[in-house]
Amino acid sequence: MKKMFEFKNGKIKFNKFIIALAPMAGVTDFAYRKICADFGADMVVTEMISVKALENKSFKTNKMLREESDAIKCCQIFGHDENSIANALNSQLFDNFNIIDFNCGCPAPKIVKNGDGSALMRDIEKTRSIISCLVKNSNKPVSVKFRLGIDDYINYIEFAKMCEECGVSFITLHARTREQGYAGNVDKTAYKKLIDSVNIPVFWSGDISSIEDMEYAKSIGSAGVMIGRASMGNPEIFSTLKNTPPPYSKKEVILKHLNLLKTYFKTEKTLVAYFKKHLMWYVKSLPLATEIKRKIMLFTTLNEVNELIEKL
Ligand SMILES: Cc1cc2nc3c(=O)[nH]c(=O)nc-3n(C[C@H](O)[C@H](O)[C@H](O)COP(=O)(O)O)c2cc1C
Repeated sequence: MKKMFEFKNGKIKFNKFIIALAPMAGVTDFAYRKICADFGADMVVTEMISVKALENKSFKTNKMLREESDAIKCCQIFGHDENSIANALNSQLFDNFNIIDFNCGCPAPKIVKNGDGSALMRDIEKTRSIISCLVKNSNKPVSVKFRLGIDDYINYIEFAKMCEECGVSFITLHARTREQGYAGNVDKTAYKKLIDSVNIPVFWSGDISSIEDMEYAKSIGSAGVMIGRASMGNPEIFSTLKNTPPPYSKKEVILKHLNLLKTYFKTEKTLVAYFKKHLMWYVKSLPLATEIKRKIMLFTTLNEVNELIEKL
């Protein structure tokens, strides 16, 4: 793979505009990351992984760190306990990754209640200590992903400056507050304000679904874009943005995803329960999608999944 970034003296330099698969819990499994990379994603990010679970060497977490894609590989972690972060970073499981990303944006109540995710935007000084610990203990570049703010208090510029002072290599903004969740549109003006306020690369995450969106992000000086929801069931978005032919047909993608996941789930029941969600996204643009999705919801066996794929 041609080197897309260099990391020297604690500084990262991207040699091109980066089109990345955004971290998405319950979506960006190892198989999907590999498929998106095959379609042209320059960087792929794991689902968010708990540092506590990493520290405890949980079996599920170990599996989540499987990585086979041909792209810049970024592992996203979440937590707030400095000892756990320092212990987790010793894990050999990170050997497969190029970058460690730190989640300061998750809005989910169970995460925020624990003082993780976007809750870390509440107390910048406390978070400074956590991020400094992360940078100090990581032998890889560290990036941070965050929102506009929490409790409707907008402090992303101050937060970004703190990240830069801690030695973070790049930052990613999802320009909504915690309270906005995923509703409405991102605040497009925030990205330019942020880019003008710091001297580290800034990634745009939020509402990118076309070449025009991407070109706009590029025109204001973003280092790259992260594609989230527009990629669900649609890895083709990466070949569209890259203007390259898609490597696989829809049917081939679905089969590839399913076959890769067969090596990941222990039982047919858990595999089918998980894969149904992806399958519903894959078929969403087909004629009769509503009817097909209704059938998928009732699937419990691989036979049913295979019969449907056969007919596509
Ligand atoms: C189902 C789902 C799961 C997500 N999980 C994460 C996550 O684990 N870590 C994270 O930083 N952001 C997560 N996000 C946020 C996305 O990375 C992204 O910032 C957000 O969806 C906006 O981008 P989009 O409009 O391209 O989807 C998630 C979003 C969705 C829809």
